[in-house]
Amino acid sequence: MAKIGFIGYGSMGSMIITGFLSSNALKPDEIIISNRTKSKLYNIKKEYPEIEIAENNLFLADECEKIFIFVGTNAVKEVIEDIHTKISDKAHIIYIAAALTIENVESVFQGKISKVIPNLTSEVSEGVSLICHNEKVNEIEAEFVNKLFNSISTVKIIEEDDFEVGSDLTSCAPAFIAEIFMEFAEASVKNSNFNQEDANDMVIKTLYGTAKLLHDKNMSFEELISRVATKGGITEDGIKVLENKLPGTFDELFKTTLDKHEQIKSELNCQYNKN
Ligand SMILES: NC(=O)c1ccc[n+]([C@@H]2O[C@H](COP(=O)([O-])OP(=O)(O)OC[C@H]3O[C@@H](n4cnc5c(N)ncnc54)[C@H](OP(=O)(O)O)[C@@H]3O)[C@@H](O)[C@H]2O)c1
Repeated sequence: MAKIGFIGYGSMGSMIITGFLSSNALKPDEIIISNRTKSKLYNIKKEYPEIEIAENNLFLADECEKIFIFVGTNAVKEVIEDIHTKISDKAHIIYIAAALTIENVESVFQGKISKVIPNLTSEVSEGVSLICHNEKVNEIEAEFVNKLFNSISTVKIIEEDDFEVGSDLTSCAPAFIAEIFMEFAEASVKNSNFNQEDANDMVIKTLYGTAKLLHDKNMSFEELISRVATKGGITEDGIKVLENKLPGTFDELFKTTLDKHEQIKSELNCQYNKN
C-alpha cells in the first residue's frame, strides 16, 4: 500500500505529524518523512522506529500518492518542481501556506490539491484548522484530509477567498490573544503590588476559565459580559473603555495583516509566473 508522505519537519510539520501519530489517526508504519536537515528527524525515528525516513524528496514522492508539504511558503514551488517527475497522476498534494493560492500551485502541479491552515493550538488538540480542496479532490480524498486534521483540531471547510481573514481569526489569533493578555497583565503590575509572574498566572487561569465558559457552556460573548458587568458597576465602566478603544485597534490590525497578505501574494504570483 502507498505510504503517506510528509515533506518538511519544522515547527508546523513536527506538531502536525506527532499529533496525527499520538491521536492514532495514522500509524507509524504508514508514513514516510523527508526533511532537509536529517538530524531533526532523529527523535521521532527514535520514538516511532517504524516510521520511514526518506533519503530525499524524490524518493518519498516515488512511494506516495498523498504528499503533505510542510516547508516554508517560499520553498513550496521548489519542492513541487523537485518531485514533479516522480508524482503519479493520482497524486494529492496538501500544503499549509496561507498566502499561496491554489491557482499558484496549479501552475506547477495540475492534480489534486488541498490547502490547510493549521493552528499552533493543535499542540493541545484544540483550535481550528481551515481547509479547502480543488475540484479534482473527490469526496473520499477530501474526507481523508479533513479526518486527519479533525484528530488534532476542529476542521472548518471554507472558500479560498476567506483564507486571509480566516487565518487571522484562527492561525494568527493565538499570538494576537497572547499579546492582548500580556499587555493586560503588564498594565495590572503598574497599578498594584503584584509581580509579573503572579499577574500572568491570574490572567492565564482567567482566560482559560473564560474560554471554557464560552465553549463548554455555549455562553455568548454578550451573555458573559452581562453576567459580569452589573449595571452601574466597575466592570461596566471598564467595558466602556474597551468598546471605545478596541474597534479602531482591530480595524487597524485587519488592515495591516490584509495588506501584508496582499504583498506576499503578489510576491508569490511573481515567483509562480516566472515559469
Ligand atoms: N507557524 C504557524 O503558526 C503556522 C500556522 C499556519 C501555517 N503555517 C505555515 O506553515 C509553513 C511551515 O511553517 P513552519 O513554521 O513549520 O516553518 P519551519 O519551522 O521553517 O519548517 C520548515 C521545514 O521545512 C524544511 N524544508 C525546507 N525546505 C525543504 C526541502 N526542500 N526539502 C525538505 N525539507 C525542507 C526545513 O528544513 P530544515 O530543518 O533544514 O530547516 C524545516 O524543517 C509555512 O508556509 C507557514 O506559513 C505556519
